[in-house]
Amino acid sequence: MGDRLDGRVAVVTGAASGIGEATVRRFVEEGARVVVADVQVDRGEAVAAALGDAARFVHCDVTSEDAVAAAIQLAVDTWGRLDVMFNNAGVVGAIGPIADTDAAAWTRSIDILLHSVFYGCKHAARVMVPQGSGSIISTSSAAGVMGGLGPHAYTTAKTAVIGLTKSVAAELGTKGVRCNAIAPGTIPTPLTAVVTTGDATDLEAVAASARERYGRAGDAIDIANAALYLASDEAAFVNGHTLVVDYGRTINGGSPRFASAEPKMVGIAGTDDQ
Ligand SMILES: NC(=O)c1ccc[n+]([C@@H]2O[C@H](COP(=O)([O-])OP(=O)(O)OC[C@H]3O[C@@H](n4cnc5c(N)ncnc54)[C@H](O)[C@@H]3O)[C@@H](O)[C@H]2O)c1
Repeated sequence: MGDRLDGRVAVVTGAASGIGEATVRRFVEEGARVVVADVQVDRGEAVAAALGDAARFVHCDVTSEDAVAAAIQLAVDTWGRLDVMFNNAGVVGAIGPIADTDAAAWTRSIDILLHSVFYGCKHAARVMVPQGSGSIISTSSAAGVMGGLGPHAYTTAKTAVIGLTKSVAAELGTKGVRCNAIAPGTIPTPLTAVVTTGDATDLEAVAASARERYGRAGDAIDIANAALYLASDEAAFVNGHTLVVDYGRTINGGSPRFASAEPKMVGIAGTDDQ
């Protein structure tokens, strides 16, 4: 237990599972009160119930602007303010070759992954700007930083989340409100498990694959800790930033062949300076 969010009020979307659930617990450990917003009622209610008076569940489909506004209003009605808005809900969305991508699945993916973030920023700003303070955080992805890591619609939406974050940060920074994004690498959650094995509960399959390829598997708590940092006053001078939390996945171009070469100096090509 700590006090890094003492007295703060947060709304977390996609809070019934994975990264959102871990973040709710982490925020409450640090003194926050949190609205747990999700479409999964049983799981969301269980997350909130385990935290007692510090959490309230609300059914919230983030593709509905009214539902996102209502989740924020619940925070204000219950605890009188909104200090942190974590736009985090997501799905993998449309997968497959671009030539075969169904337009309706594309639009649904963008609705869930991008329009939701716009609604969250918009309605958080309506409370935070008059308050003169607040931290908006949105979950992008390593797939929003480089191509080829995620499906087309997902990559597009997560890239756009970074753009929206910069744009909102530029506007709201002068009003005491910060807006940042987090770009996680692969984290074992139901979202990644279901695309890895078809079994949403098989988090270990995701973790084992990550350990083998990158040397370490991430955990939802790694992203929760990043969200805690951006939510807290420790990040008071951080605005418009995308915090990549991926154990170096997006800076690693492949096998580090020079690191495994025979050590020597390579000088001017084609000369004796070798
Ligand atoms: N797990 C990863 O490797 C990874 C990597 C990068 C980014 N992300 C992003 O992290 C976020 C959280 O994903 P996760 O990995 O914790 O997955 P998860 O499946 O554990 O959690 C996602 C949550 O979002 C909720 N959700 C989905 N659609 C919704 C809707 N329309 N309205 C409200 N809630 C909805 C789900 O019910 C679920 O509780 C997502 O935005 C995802 O794209 C995850």
